[in-house]
Amino acid sequence: MHTMRTTQRLIQISDTHLGRDPGPIRAGYPDSDTQLERILDALPREPAADVLLLSGDLAEDPEPVTYARLTKLLRARHEPMLALAGNHDDSNTLRAALEPGTCQVHGEIILGPWKLIGLDSSTPGEAAGRLDAAECERLERSLAADPDRPTVVALHHPPVTIGSAWMDRMRLLEPETLFAVLDRHPQVRACLFGHIHQDFRTRRGSIELLGCPSTCVQFTPGSEAFAVDAAMEAGYRILDLHPDGRFDTQVVRVPGTRIAMEPSA
Ligand SMILES: [Fe+2]
Repeated sequence: MHTMRTTQRLIQISDTHLGRDPGPIRAGYPDSDTQLERILDALPREPAADVLLLSGDLAEDPEPVTYARLTKLLRARHEPMLALAGNHDDSNTLRAALEPGTCQVHGEIILGPWKLIGLDSSTPGEAAGRLDAAECERLERSLAADPDRPTVVALHHPPVTIGSAWMDRMRLLEPETLFAVLDRHPQVRACLFGHIHQDFRTRRGSIELLGCPSTCVQFTPGSEAFAVDAAMEAGYRILDLHPDGRFDTQVVRVPGTRIAMEPSA
């Protein structure tokens, strides 16, 4: 019976960057739709995810037609989903397209003894992120209401630098507003983000800060300027959330999702 399973599995996919039309969003890139399909097909079935987190930049071109294709690609999924807006997304268009289905946008999901809270760090017209006062208050209220529930907080933008100058300029600005809330609530175990198109892991106090690969293209770690890591496969992150408040996490790479290296004719 389902209640026998106490560990909850969260799977994060990120930065799908679907274009207005199917196909590569720029020269040298793979087809974003095909890449997403490959990742979805590769997700583990046993145990399957209890929630699928889509951590932003779901569209490259944030139009209804793009999100309609995303909805279609996600239609066969059975797990609950929580989506976040990234800097390339439009929060309202995303919500209008996804929320009539089984995918909620921002908000929160209870996972057995755990909670997942999704925040909107997107700021119209800006690549960098920001949490406005309303999002900070929503986070504060949710954490204050459930002090004994181990919690994962997710947003698109990293609240820390990752040692990559061009990317660090467009991280979450004024991260101290987020950390001021998190520091008051020791039940927060992890903060997940996308945006950086690479695996990343650091710690701040008792909170693990975890980045995620893109389903589309990977960026080169430690690079001063924009650089695509053509040798790295696309992937996703798994978190297994245990009932005692501990969790295990790993990034899984999917074969066949590397950028093709053949010289073009
Ligand atoms: Fe982004």
